[in-house]
Amino acid sequence: MVLISPSLLSANFAILGKEVRDITIAGADIIHFDVMDGHFVPNITFGPMVLSSIRKYTNLLFEAHLMITNPDIYWKQFSDAGADIIGFHIESQINHKHLISDIHKESKKICLVVNPGTKIALIEQFLSEIDIVLVMTVNPGFGGQKFLMQNLKKIEWLTAQKDKHNYKFLIEVDGGINYKTAALVKKAGADIIVAGSFIFKSKSYKHVINKLKCCK
Ligand code: DX5
Ligand code: ZN
Repeated sequence: MVLISPSLLSANFAILGKEVRDITIAGADIIHFDVMDGHFVPNITFGPMVLSSIRKYTNLLFEAHLMITNPDIYWKQFSDAGADIIGFHIESQINHKHLISDIHKESKKICLVVNPGTKIALIEQFLSEIDIVLVMTVNPGFGGQKFLMQNLKKIEWLTAQKDKHNYKFLIEVDGGINYKTAALVKKAGADIIVAGSFIFKSKSYKHVINKLKCCK
């Protein structure tokens, strides 16, 4: 069954602890933190202090999606603040090999993220050593955008690579998820679905999470 990772970007920041507790009770599997620095993407969100203050509200895994220019410098602060999964972009101008090895040494999970405009083949060289590939289905920076259909091909390609080489990584999809797009990405092979506005703008988190897990 697919795992659901609600993005806190669309949660009520004034009561973030309660939101995290509610979403946990509602059946979420992972908590997705969209970290933006106003440089790598044209928006600013929050830093590691927010993760550490929320840590006591749930036992779920924390995933830090680092949309920042220097994930190689800052990832450790997010790890120390309670992130279990460190997500960074192939588009970041860093030494990806070094960062993968540093994060693994810390026994944290690695999630490599690919933007809509980036060729998926660029991450081929890392597929045997990462835990998750995150396919962005909107341009990063904001919640509530429209799902970009052309990215379905990337999910299908990743699924084919897993079958062919017996890779263990999970496929995660982030951006523009609703019941219709969730069904499409699941069919293409997604294992984890990130959803922000669709969950947090709804009346019942539980209803939406259950339906995202099972919709055809
Ligand atoms: C975009 C973020 C996503 C986004 C998802 O930069 O990475 O996690 O918040 O939000 P929705 O589900 O509203 O598209
Ligand atoms: Zn995200």
